Amino acid sequence: MPPALSAEQIRDANTRYHDVAAGHYDSKWGIDFGEVGRAQVLAKVRKALGREPSRWPRSLEIGSGTGYFTLNLMSAGLIGEATCTDISPGMLGTLQSNARGLGLEVATEVADAERLPFEDNTFELVLGHAVLHHIPDLPRALREFERVLAPGGTIVFAGEPSRYGDRLAGVPKRFAGAIAPAWRLAIGAGAAAGPGEGDADEALERVVDVHAFAPRELLEAARAAGLREVRVGGEELLANWFGWTNRTLEATADPEQVPWMWRQYAYRGYLVLQELDRRLLEGRLPAAIFYNLMITGRKRGRA
Ligand SMILES: C[S@@+](CC[C@H](N)C(=O)[O-])C[C@H]1O[C@@H](n2cnc3c(N)ncnc32)[C@H](O)[C@@H]1O
Repeated sequence: MPPALSAEQIRDANTRYHDVAAGHYDSKWGIDFGEVGRAQVLAKVRKALGREPSRWPRSLEIGSGTGYFTLNLMSAGLIGEATCTDISPGMLGTLQSNARGLGLEVATEVADAERLPFEDNTFELVLGHAVLHHIPDLPRALREFERVLAPGGTIVFAGEPSRYGDRLAGVPKRFAGAIAPAWRLAIGAGAAAGPGEGDADEALERVVDVHAFAPRELLEAARAAGLREVRVGGEELLANWFGWTNRTLEATADPEQVPWMWRQYAYRGYLVLQELDRRLLEGRLPAAIFYNLMITGRKRGRA
C-alpha cells in the first residue's frame, strides 16, 4: 500500500494535475456552455434544492475548474456577480477564456477551499461541482463556506462520488478493460502509444481523489459546520456505468483514430441515460447507490 500523503502533498498534486488537465478538460469531459450544458447544470441545481432556483446576487464557486457551473448559471440569468476560485491557476485561465467567449464577466482568484480569502457574510450562494472529494480537511472547508455565506445564504454542491457508487463503477471499468482489444478492432483504431492515457490518469486520480462519501457523512459534516436545512440526494447510475465504460475504452485507443461517430454515440447515449436515470431511478432508490451525491444547506439568519 503506498504511504499516506500529507494534506500539503494532496493539494500540490491537485494543483499540478489540474494545471496539466486545463487545456483539454472541456473536451475530455464533454463540458458544454451552450443549451445542453445550461440544461444539465440547471437540472442539477433544481434537483439539489428540490425546487426552482431563485436569482442569487453574489456567488462564490469553489474548485470551479473551467467554469461549468458558474458560467452556465450566469448564462441562465441566475447569478449577478460571480467569483470563481480554484487551487489550479491553469483551470482559472481556461475559465477566463471560456467566459470571454461567452461575453461574461467573472472575478477569479486562486484559493484553497480550506482558506478562503473573503470577508464573513459575503455571498448569497456558495457552490461547487466535483470538488469536495479533493479536499483534505472537508470539515474545515465546510466551516469556511458557512463563514463566507451571507445570512440565509445557500450552499449547493453536486457531482460528489458516493462510496458505494464508486465501487460499482469499478465493474464497467474492468469490463471495458477486458473488451478493449476487440473494441479497437471493431472501430478500426490502434492502441494508445505507450502506457494508455487512462493508466496515467488513473494513477494520478488515486492521489487527487481523497474521498468517496456515504450520504450520512456529508449530511453530518454540513450540519457540524453550522448549516441548516441540509439535504443530500443521489443522481446518475446507468449514465455513469455507460460513461465509465466508454471513457475506459477510449483511453486505450489512439485518440486520433477514435471515429467521430463513436464519440457522438458515447455523448448522446450518456445524455439519454442521464434522462432515464432522472425519470425512472432518482427519487425512487436510496441516494447511496447512485454514483453522484449532491448536497444543499442554508446559513442561519434571514436572506
Ligand atoms: C474534478 S475538477 C471539477 C472542476 C469543475 N468544478 C467542473 O465540474 O468541471 C476539481 C477541481 O477542484 C480543484 N481543487 C482541487 N483541490 C482543491 C482545493 N483544495 N481547493 C480548491 N480547489 C481545489 C481542482 O483544481 C479542479 O479544478
